[in-house]
Amino acid sequence: MNLTLKIWRQTGPEDKGGIHTYQVEGVSSDMSFLEMLDVLNEQLNEAGEEPVAFDSDCREGICGTCSLMINGDAHGPEVTTTCQLHMRSFKDGDTITIEPWRSAAFPVIKDLIVDRSALDRIIQSGGYISANTGSAPEANSVPVPRDDAMRAFNVATCIGCGACVAACPNGSASLFVGAKITHLGELPQGQPERWSRVVDMVSQHDAEGFGGCTNIGECSAACPKEIPMDVISQMNRDLRTALTHGH
Ligand code: SF4
Ligand code: FES
Repeated sequence: MNLTLKIWRQTGPEDKGGIHTYQVEGVSSDMSFLEMLDVLNEQLNEAGEEPVAFDSDCREGICGTCSLMINGDAHGPEVTTTCQLHMRSFKDGDTITIEPWRSAAFPVIKDLIVDRSALDRIIQSGGYISANTGSAPEANSVPVPRDDAMRAFNVATCIGCGACVAACPNGSASLFVGAKITHLGELPQGQPERWSRVVDMVSQHDAEGFGGCTNIGECSAACPKEIPMDVISQMNRDLRTALTHGH
């Protein structure tokens, strides 16, 4: 495939930035989207031009590092991460627009790389859980109802990629915070700090400049792990309970 790429280039946080157009040739439909960008960067290197900076680590859909707005969709046209998106989703002659995550809380570092450390600070504000260390306890000594275990597991699949924030017109990270709150709030090990955790994490979310949730649902539609919207309801219920009881 031969493609036209319209890519956001920005030399640093202070640069205004803008869209640059490139032609890339010889892309296989079996390549991942990031491998296609590797091909472009090889072309740019050979031409003595600055390669396009973008984030990636595992390239297996598990670390949450990759992050691109592709033709206006966070992680592109499939329900997956950018690194797991394959070029068979595109066709020869296509024009593809590639931008960084857009959010006031995610400042651009360079080109397509944004600073997502605000999500780390929200996690940090949640603190620790009170679990004994040492050898693993006997599995049946802490019974967990099957439905609770399944729900905790399903929302624990959130990889912290930030697509929910990029897709949300309000720039809210409520789906991310709701996933973390629900994951630990469903399990017995998460109960001792349950109420202080929700107050601290929601406060940090707001302090980082993320917007509020108005139930639009773009977050869940963009989420590569299909985290459901009802984690936001659970977060809000827990927050109300915590504040009512003076936490
Ligand atoms: S909730 Fe989904 S979109 Fe948001 S950070 Fe987690 S995995 Fe990414
Ligand atoms: S690079 Fe790890 S999830 Fe995409």
